[in-house]
Amino acid sequence: MKALNVRHACKLFDPTKKIPKERVDLLLTAAHLSPTSFGMEAWKFIVISSDAVKKTLRPACWDQPQITDASHVIVILTNPDLVDPSNAYVKANFERRGLPEDATTAYIERYRTHMEAEVFPIMSAYAWCSKQCYIVLANIMTAAASEGIDSCPIEGFEKEWVEKALNIDTGPHEVAVIAALGYRAKAQPKRIRHSIERLVKYM
Ligand SMILES: Cc1cc2nc3c(=O)[nH]c(=O)nc-3n(C[C@H](O)[C@H](O)[C@H](O)COP(=O)(O)O)c2cc1C
Repeated sequence: MKALNVRHACKLFDPTKKIPKERVDLLLTAAHLSPTSFGMEAWKFIVISSDAVKKTLRPACWDQPQITDASHVIVILTNPDLVDPSNAYVKANFERRGLPEDATTAYIERYRTHMEAEVFPIMSAYAWCSKQCYIVLANIMTAAASEGIDSCPIEGFEKEWVEKALNIDTGPHEVAVIAALGYRAKAQPKRIRHSIERLVKYM
C-alpha cells in the first residue's frame, strides 16, 4: 500500500536526478513478470535515457515536459500480428508450456474461439494487446514507487508521430502507452478520487 500511496502522476521531474541502471533493470523485470491473456507476451519495451532521443520524442507527446525531464522513458509497444490465431507464434507459445499434444491443440482451439467470438467482434488486435500493455504500465509504476522512483503514465501522444520519431518498424510494432520515470522536483499533490462507496458494489 505504501507504494500505491506515494505513486502519483508526477508532472515535474528533477532533470538532474538519474535512475541507476540496476533500478532500471528492476523496472524491466517488473514489466517482464507481468501477466498476459493466454500468455501471449505480444509486446516490446523501448528504454530511452538519451537526452537527444527524449528531445525528439517530446513534441510527439503534446510537448509534455515529463518526457525530457524524466530520467528514463519507457515506450511500451505491442505486436498485434502475433496474436492472430493462425500465426505460428500462437502455436509455439502454447507448445512451450510442455503440455501433451491434445491439450495443446485444445488450448489453441479455445484461444481461436475466444478471439473470434469475444475479442475481434468488439476490438482490434491492437486494442486487445494494448490492454495487456497497461498492466505492464501499472506494474512498472508500482515497482518504481516501491523503489522511491516517481512516474507519469503518458497517453497524451500522437501515435504515428511517436512511431516516426523513434524509427519504430510499424510492420510488427505499434506504440501502446508510455511511462516517464525519474524523481519528483516538488511535493506530491493532494490525491483526488471519488469515494470508494460510489465506486464499489458488493454482491
Ligand atoms: C493511461 C493513462 C494515461 C495518462 N496520460 C497522461 C499524460 O499524457 N500526461 C499526464 O500528465 N498525465 C497522464 N496521466 C495521469 C492521470 O491524469 C492521473 O493518473 C490522474 O489524474 C490521477 O492522478 P494520480 O495518478 O496522481 O493519482 C495518465 C494516466 C493514465 C492511467
